[in-house]
Amino acid sequence: MLKWIEVDSKALLHNLSLIRSLVKKRTKVIFVVKANAYGHGIDQVVSITEKSNLIDWYGVNSIEEAVKLRELGVKREILILGYVERELIEEGIRNNVRFTVYEPSYISEIERKARKMKREAYFHLKLETGTGRQGIDKKDWKSFKEVLKKIEYTKFEAVSSHFANIEDTTDHSYAEYQLKRFNSFYKLIVNDGFSPLRHFSCSASTLLFPKTHFDFVRVGISAYGYWPSKETHLSFLLRHKNELELRKVLSFYTKVAQVKTLKKGSFISYGLTYKTTQKTKIAVLPVGYFDGVDRKLSNTGYFLIKGERVPIRGRVCMNITLVDVSHIKNINSEDKVTLIGRDGKEIVSADDWADKVGTINYEILSRLSPEIPRIVR
Ligand SMILES: Cc1ncc(COP(=O)(O)O)c(C=O)c1O
Repeated sequence: MLKWIEVDSKALLHNLSLIRSLVKKRTKVIFVVKANAYGHGIDQVVSITEKSNLIDWYGVNSIEEAVKLRELGVKREILILGYVERELIEEGIRNNVRFTVYEPSYISEIERKARKMKREAYFHLKLETGTGRQGIDKKDWKSFKEVLKKIEYTKFEAVSSHFANIEDTTDHSYAEYQLKRFNSFYKLIVNDGFSPLRHFSCSASTLLFPKTHFDFVRVGISAYGYWPSKETHLSFLLRHKNELELRKVLSFYTKVAQVKTLKKGSFISYGLTYKTTQKTKIAVLPVGYFDGVDRKLSNTGYFLIKGERVPIRGRVCMNITLVDVSHIKNINSEDKVTLIGRDGKEIVSADDWADKVGTINYEILSRLSPEIPRIVR
């Protein structure tokens, strides 16, 4: 195999058991496997976790992902976090998913379809608490209430919300403000005679704030062994005496396609952005931005070969990347290259890539091409 991703099943289960230990017994864990399980491979991640009692539900973004889980044999409940087109509501009901909703007419549409199918349907109402994306405003509750009084087949199972500023900072005052809005909105709903379950918490709030756990936590990145941000990690260390040993689940490998020596003063790759200052041994790697190797890693990133860092020289191409291997002895074509992962004492992680290209580990992981084979080990 020329390039492949390895998924460490023990690391994944280890992280999930750490998360499990942080939440109360009665709090259910929704394991977020959207975006091809954050690039880890939805098939592989589900094969590791479906039989495990460390998680309760799966969270996905789309109806397509939910159907895929059912095709993989998933029996657990599935919460769809994103929007489902109205014409696909029946498919959702047939596959026994939980819809996230935020429009009264959408609830009526679910009810109409559920009645026609003579099946129960479930939805979670998303509350706007300050993230400014999906969600209903408190002032619109009245119109929802009227619809909710009329539904029979459709079950108002839960309310949810999402934090806007919990990863990017060690100042959690905005998260506190959102939590207050959530609690006040929930009170209004309860006063009107409804008693939905509640969920608000992503990885950062699950790791930092037990008071946000409610009935479910929705965890993604931490299960895959990454901290949501340096700030979340720092906040955790300031609150707890002990480190939380998250283990990275994904490694990404390729093999050297060619080794060649360039004379001093030679250019490397498109745009002539790198010129050798001495005789330089280069390894040609058969991966590029099509695979998810961000083009902004050009001339800044590094990979690992034989336990050593090998810097990227010149521009990352669509299918090829060049690295400087002048310091590596006995290097040949088909030698293994660690793009993300550990080799000996050295590690290169999605955080390292993210720092170099000005993004977050979430984007690096979820953009790894779904076409790369994933292997569970
Ligand atoms: C609505 C929602 N809930 C939960 C999550 C999981 O967040 P995290 O990966 O930080 O745990 C996400 C991720 O994007 C999300 O969009």
